[in-house]
Amino acid sequence: MGRLIIRNGIVLTASDTIAADVLVEGERIAVIGQRLQAGDAQEIDATGMLLLPGGIDPHTHFDLPMFGTVSSDDHYTGHKAAAFGGTTTVLDFVPQDPGQSLLAALEGWQRKAAKAAIDYSFHSNLTWVGEKTLAELPKLASAGVTSVKLFTAYNKRMRLQDGEIFLAMRACVEHGLLPMLHAENGDVIDIMVGEALAAGRLAPEWHAFTRPAWGEAEATYRGIALAATVGAPLYVVHMTCVGALEAVCRAREQGLPVMGETCPQYLFFTTDDLRRPDGAKWVCSPPVRTAYDNAVLWRGLELGWLQVVGTDHCAFFYDGTRPIDYEGKKVAIPGKELGHGDFTKIPNGLPGVEDRMQILWTYGVGQGRITPHQFVALTSTNAAKAFGLYPQKGTLAPGADADIVIWNPTTRRTVSAARWHQRTDYNLYEGWQITGAPEQVYLRGRLIVDGDTWLGASGQGRFLPRRSGTIV
Ligand code: URP
Ligand code: ZN
Ligand code: ZN
Repeated sequence: MGRLIIRNGIVLTASDTIAADVLVEGERIAVIGQRLQAGDAQEIDATGMLLLPGGIDPHTHFDLPMFGTVSSDDHYTGHKAAAFGGTTTVLDFVPQDPGQSLLAALEGWQRKAAKAAIDYSFHSNLTWVGEKTLAELPKLASAGVTSVKLFTAYNKRMRLQDGEIFLAMRACVEHGLLPMLHAENGDVIDIMVGEALAAGRLAPEWHAFTRPAWGEAEATYRGIALAATVGAPLYVVHMTCVGALEAVCRAREQGLPVMGETCPQYLFFTTDDLRRPDGAKWVCSPPVRTAYDNAVLWRGLELGWLQVVGTDHCAFFYDGTRPIDYEGKKVAIPGKELGHGDFTKIPNGLPGVEDRMQILWTYGVGQGRITPHQFVALTSTNAAKAFGLYPQKGTLAPGADADIVIWNPTTRRTVSAARWHQRTDYNLYEGWQITGAPEQVYLRGRLIVDGDTWLGASGQGRFLPRRSGTIV
C-alpha cells in the first residue's frame, strides 16, 4: 500500500480539534501537520469534514447461537454494517459451553471470524468456573484475550454464583485480565418469569417486567463489592438504569477502578416500546426501562460517569421465516417470531452496530448533550484504553493504525432498515432523521467505505491481540 494524504480536514480526537493534513504511509498514520509535502501520495480533499478515529464497538454478538437459532449478522455482514456506520474495530464475546475449555471456545470463534472485514478482538464469557478454567486464564491472556464476562443472570446457562465470581475475579487480578459484568438478579428473574407464565402474561412487555431494574442495581453493587474485595478492576456492560449508574458512580467517587458502558437503545426506548404490536423487536437483556432512566443515562454520559457507548449488537430478524441469500443459498434465519405468544422464547438482542455513531452524533452532539470530544472518547478512545488497544487504535496520532473516518457533520439521512447494511429486517430507529455520517472509512489506510459503496472484503479484518488495558 502506498501513501495517502488527507488535506484540509479537522482532526478530532478525545482531547483536541486541529485543522491539519494527515499523511498515511502504508497502514499507519505517519504525520499530522500543516501543509504537508505530499510527494507521490494520493491526495484526498476533506474540506468541511471532520477526521475521526475509527469507532470501536466493544460489545457485539455475531453468529451467536441462541434459543435454537443464531444471531443474524455474522463476522462479515456485521463488520460491513459496522464499517458503514464508522466503526472499524469490534470486540465480540466468545461463549463458553458447559465445561468447555476457554481456549477451545476461542479457537472455534477464531474460525468463525476468519471472514472478518474490519479489525476485531474477543472477550471470553466465563460461564463455567472450575480449576481447569481458571488455570486457562494466563493462556487466554497470552493469546491476546484480556477480558472475561461474568454473569449474575441466565440461571442454569451462564450465571455464576457469588463465590465463583469471587474466584474468577481473583484469578483475573493475578493474570492481568479485566472482569466484565452482566448484572441482573438471576434468581428473582426465574421466580418472576415462572409467575408470569403461570398467570398467562406472555406478551413481550413481560420480558421487562420480569427483569426488574432493582435486580440490575443490586447485582451491579454486588459485582463492585466482589471486585473491590479482591482488588479487581471492573467493567459493567450494557447499563440500563439509574440504580446501576449510581453504583458505578459511587464506586468511582471512592476511587475504585470501575467503568461503565451503556448502549444507544437504553438512551431512547422504554417498556412502552415493548407494548407495541411489534414489541418483540425491543426484547433484549437487560431490558429497556423508563424515560427517567433514559434521561439519567444521558446525564451520565454528559458528566463522565459512563465511559463507553457500545451496542450489544445481537441482531435477529423480526420475521425470520422469509428466506434470505446466505452464502449462495436461500435460507431462513429464525428470529423474533420464535417467541410469538411466549416472551421467554423471543431471542434476546437488538441490532445497532451501524447506528451507534450516527445516532449518538445526531442526538448527543447535535442536541448539545455531549461535546464532539466526548463523542470520540465514548465511541472509540475509552474502549481502546480500557481494552488494551491504545494508541494503536482509538486515536489519530503518528504511529497509530490509519483507521480514519471522514465524517460529514452535515449529511442528512433517514434511518431505513432497507438502506442500512445490518442483516435484519428492521431498525429500531426506522424513519429517524440523522445529521452527521461517515463519508469515507479507512481501515489501516485502505478505503473500505466510499459513500454508499462497499470496497471492503471478507478476510481483510485482522485479529488484535490485546494487552491489559488501563482504567478510564
Ligand atoms: O439481549 C442481549 N443483550 N443479548 C446478548 C447477550 C448479552 O447478555 O449481552
Ligand atoms: Zn450481557
Ligand atoms: Zn451482550
